[in-house]
Amino acid sequence: MLELFKSIRLDKEDKIPLYTQLYGKIKEMINEGILCADFRLPSVRRLADALHVNRVTVVSAYRQLESEGLVYSKPGSGTYVENAPALTGRSAGKDPDVFLDELYQQDDLSLISNGQIKIDDKTINFASATPTPDLFPVEDFKLVLNEVLERDKGNAFGYQDSQGFYPIRESIYKVLENKIQGVSPESIQVISGAQQGIDIISKALLKQGDCVITESPTYTGAIAVFKSRGAEIIDVEMQESGPDLNILEYSLKQYRPRLIYTIPSFQNPTGYSYSNYKRAQLLNLAEKYNCHIIEDDYVSDLDFEGKNYTPLKAMDKQDRVIFIKSFSKIFMPGLRLGFMVAPRHLQGIILEAKHATDISTSGLIQRAFDLYIRKGFWDRHFKFMYDIYRERYTLAVKSLDRNLPDSATYAKPGGGLNIWLKLPMGISANSLSKHAQAEGIVFAPGKIFYSRNTPQKLDNIRLSFAAADSGQIEKGMEKLCRMIHLFQQRQVSYQNLPVL
Ligand SMILES: Cc1ncc(COP(=O)(O)O)c(C=O)c1O
Repeated sequence: MLELFKSIRLDKEDKIPLYTQLYGKIKEMINEGILCADFRLPSVRRLADALHVNRVTVVSAYRQLESEGLVYSKPGSGTYVENAPALTGRSAGKDPDVFLDELYQQDDLSLISNGQIKIDDKTINFASATPTPDLFPVEDFKLVLNEVLERDKGNAFGYQDSQGFYPIRESIYKVLENKIQGVSPESIQVISGAQQGIDIISKALLKQGDCVITESPTYTGAIAVFKSRGAEIIDVEMQESGPDLNILEYSLKQYRPRLIYTIPSFQNPTGYSYSNYKRAQLLNLAEKYNCHIIEDDYVSDLDFEGKNYTPLKAMDKQDRVIFIKSFSKIFMPGLRLGFMVAPRHLQGIILEAKHATDISTSGLIQRAFDLYIRKGFWDRHFKFMYDIYRERYTLAVKSLDRNLPDSATYAKPGGGLNIWLKLPMGISANSLSKHAQAEGIVFAPGKIFYSRNTPQKLDNIRLSFAAADSGQIEKGMEKLCRMIHLFQQRQVSYQNLPVL
C-alpha cells in the first residue's frame, strides 16, 4: 500500500512548501475516493522515508488535513481518513455541508431546478421524491381554472375563509369519508401544503425549549420547522415496524414532549411503516403521557402491495391526533395545497395560527381544485400516477434484488416513493454519492435525515423513484449496484494489504 504513496511526486524546487504540496496530493486522493473512509494513512516515519522528506513535512501535511476535517487521528493508532470527505466534481469548491444543506432544505432537490445544483438531462435523479412536471395534468387544470374564473369572477380573488373554501372541504370530506370516521367538512382545515401544516401546528403548540419526539431518521422539512421554533428534538430510532416502544416510552417519561411527529405509512426516508400493534401502542402512550401526535400522511395511498394500513386518525378514540395530508406527491407540488384534521379542542388555536401565517390558502387554487375533484379528474389522475409509481417501484425493487451485493440491504417498503438502502460496511454514502454524481446519478445520502450529527449513520442512502422514468430506473439502479460492488472490492483489496 505504501506504493500508492510512493508515487506522490513532490517538487523540491517549487516555491510551494513541501508540506503544502503533500497535503494537496493526499487531499486529492481523498476527494477522488482513492483513499476511502477510515483508511489508515502511513505512519509519519514511513511516509517521510518513502518520500525522502523530513518528518516535520509529513506531520504538517497531516495537521493541515486534520484542520480541514479530512482526516482524524487516533492517539497511539494513527491517522485515518474521515467518514465524510469533501466533495469534488459538480460541487467542487463547496463545503460538503453546503451541498448537503441544499438537499436538506427541500428534500426534493428542487434547488436543482434553481440552478444551484446542476442536473442535466442525462442525470438520473434518485434524489427527488416528487413527480416531474411532464406528469402534471396541466390541460385539465387549465380547464377548471377557466371555468372557475368564468363562474366566480372576482370572488376567487378576495380574502377567503381561513379554514378553507367550504365546497372544497366538502369534496375532501367525501374522499376521506370511508377512511376516517367522524370527520366532517367542519373539522377540515385547508393548508398551503403539509409543510405549512407542520409549521402552524408548531406555531400554535410549541414554545422555546419544548420537546418534540421525532422518528430518526425523518423528514428534513419537519426537523427544520421544530428547530426554527426553538424546540428540542428527541429522536427515537425508526425500525422496520415502527419505533422501539420501550425507547419511545422512556423518552416520553423523561422529556414530557408536547408533540410526537410521525409518518406512520411508507415513512420518509426509510419507507418503513408502523405495524398495527405499534399504531395502537403509540396512541396509548400519547394518552398516558398527555401529548399530541402529528400524523404526516404524505403518501399512504401509494400502497402497491395491499398493505392497507389504518391511519392513526381512524384509531384515535381520545382525539389526540392531528392528521395532515399532502397532495404534493400525486398532484402538482407548486399549487401548495393540503389539509389537516385536528382534535376538536385544538381547532381554534390552529385556525388562529393559520390566519396569522397567510390569512388563507389561495382562493383561486382551492376553487379550481374543488372543481377538479368534482369533475372526477382527481380520481382519474390518482389512478394515472399510482400506475406510474407502481411500475417504477416494481422495477426499482427488481433491479436491486438482481444486482445488489448481499452485503447491502434494504427492506421492501411495499409502497411510497423511497427505498432506504444500507450500504456494505465501510462504504461511506458521501463517497458513493460523489462518485455516482460523476457518473450521472444523484441520490440523497442518509445523513441529511438526522436531526443531529450521527457519524455512525453514514452508510445509508435514500433512493427515490418518483422522478426517474422506467428506463432510467433500470439503467441507474444497475449502474449504482455495480458501483457499490466496485467500492466493496476496493475495500477488500485495501483490507488484504499489509498494515504499515
Ligand atoms: C413526509 C413529508 N411531509 C411533508 C412534505 C411536504 O409536503 P407539501 O408539499 O404538501 O408541503 C414532504 C415533502 O417532501 C414530505 O416528504
